[in-house]
Amino acid sequence: MTIRAKLIVQTVLLQIASLLLLSYGSILVERQLGEKQSQRAEGLLKEAVAHAATDALIQRDQVQLLSYLNFLKVQYPALSYAHVVWRRGGKTFPQELGEPETGARVLEDRVFVPDPSQADRSVEISFGVDQDVLRSPMRESEHRMIRVLLMVGAVTALVGLALAALVAGSLASTLGALGVMAGQISEGRLGVRLEWESDDEVGKLVRVFNVMSERLAELDLAKKNFVSSVTHELRSPLGAVESFVPLIREKLASPDTAAQATAREYLDRIQVNVQRLNRFITDLLDVAKIEQGKMECVLRPVEFAPVVSEVIQFFEPKARAQGLQVENRVDGAPLVLADTDRVRQVLVNLIANALKFTPASGRVWISTEQVRERGRRWLYITVGDSGRGMEASDLARLFKPFSQGRNVSEGVAGPKGTGLGLYIVKAIVEQHGGRVEAASAPGQGTRITFSLQAAE
Ligand SMILES: Nc1ncnc2c1ncn2[C@@H]1O[C@H](COP(=O)(O)OP(=O)(O)OP(=O)(O)O)[C@@H](O)[C@H]1O
Ligand SMILES: [Mg+2]
Repeated sequence: MTIRAKLIVQTVLLQIASLLLLSYGSILVERQLGEKQSQRAEGLLKEAVAHAATDALIQRDQVQLLSYLNFLKVQYPALSYAHVVWRRGGKTFPQELGEPETGARVLEDRVFVPDPSQADRSVEISFGVDQDVLRSPMRESEHRMIRVLLMVGAVTALVGLALAALVAGSLASTLGALGVMAGQISEGRLGVRLEWESDDEVGKLVRVFNVMSERLAELDLAKKNFVSSVTHELRSPLGAVESFVPLIREKLASPDTAAQATAREYLDRIQVNVQRLNRFITDLLDVAKIEQGKMECVLRPVEFAPVVSEVIQFFEPKARAQGLQVENRVDGAPLVLADTDRVRQVLVNLIANALKFTPASGRVWISTEQVRERGRRWLYITVGDSGRGMEASDLARLFKPFSQGRNVSEGVAGPKGTGLGLYIVKAIVEQHGGRVEAASAPGQGTRITFSLQAAE
């Protein structure tokens, strides 16, 4: 059964059940009121008969009693018959008025009136009350009520049916669209979206589906990037090593000193490539640790300024070769709570990026600022450059693994990297309890800022 049919059937059943309950309650109340009215009418009839008997006894007029009873029969159609028995001086004089109808539900009642002035005179009237006639007004009003309830029920059922069809229609169409979307995702069309705006559960479901689809597309892209990075970053240094080895062998075989020098130069190149390979494998191992939640940093009070100087010194030859200089603008030398090796790794990644994306005419610097925040003292460290910057869309996915901006393919000479550096930076900084954020725009340079707790 479809959701649409289920919802309509359930709504109609609910309406029928509530209507039946409402009708049952109303009829019950109506019956109780009717029963009270019938009893009152029966009491009034009995009073009227007794009154007529008393009058006739006082007037000593048997005929008057009969004509009054006749009048009562017209007034109260429930009065079915009356047997009158006059008693006088030990004699009885019966009178009859009407006969009980056959098949009618008639209950008999009795009125006995003695003459207060003459003890041997009395009149006794046995009269029948037709219960069906007595209760007929009650039954009529009950029928009227049932007719009204049925009409109200029919109208609400129609309105309910239309509303249920409307709600079920929109629900079914969204679920259908989600089903189509899930089918497309299962066929590999990752990243598809469904446009639907509402604050209810359906809206939430659609939003979750859209996020899931985007996330799957991102994971798929990361997987593709991973495969191409691994292939490239393994193949190119290994290829270099493989091609330099026979050349070195050839040069070493020559007695020429110039050839020997070239062989040494080739050995240096092999070393650079092995270092590159080593760095890539270390990065991959770090990523595996992060993914498994096993990246641990042991925090100790560390003097920050010497770490910066050491890293800048490490980059000096490379920066000089690029026609750049890394400016040290570290303000003071506060103690920070840090894992020295990991903080060094963060600085190395950030300065390597700054040098990679800054042309010879530009500037690269490191600056610090001390801030009180979240009840503690923090050191904010910024690695800035005046380089090529990046597009907003690249900035948005900067800290995701294997994500590289368009600026890599456009303007990086030499090894392009794998897009793991900032992902590792973020994980390390967060392990230190700090935060990392980036500001960048095309042609306006980049500033990456991270925070470390000051050791107080
Ligand atoms: N200082 C910067 N200026 C411009 N773009 C940057 C800068 N730093 C990072 N990016 C952009 O962010 C991307 C991700 O940087 P990340 O350090 O994670 O990877 P990578 O440098 O490309 O490779 P890897 O660090 O693994 O060798 C870069 O590819 C680049 O597009
Ligand atoms: Mg990098």
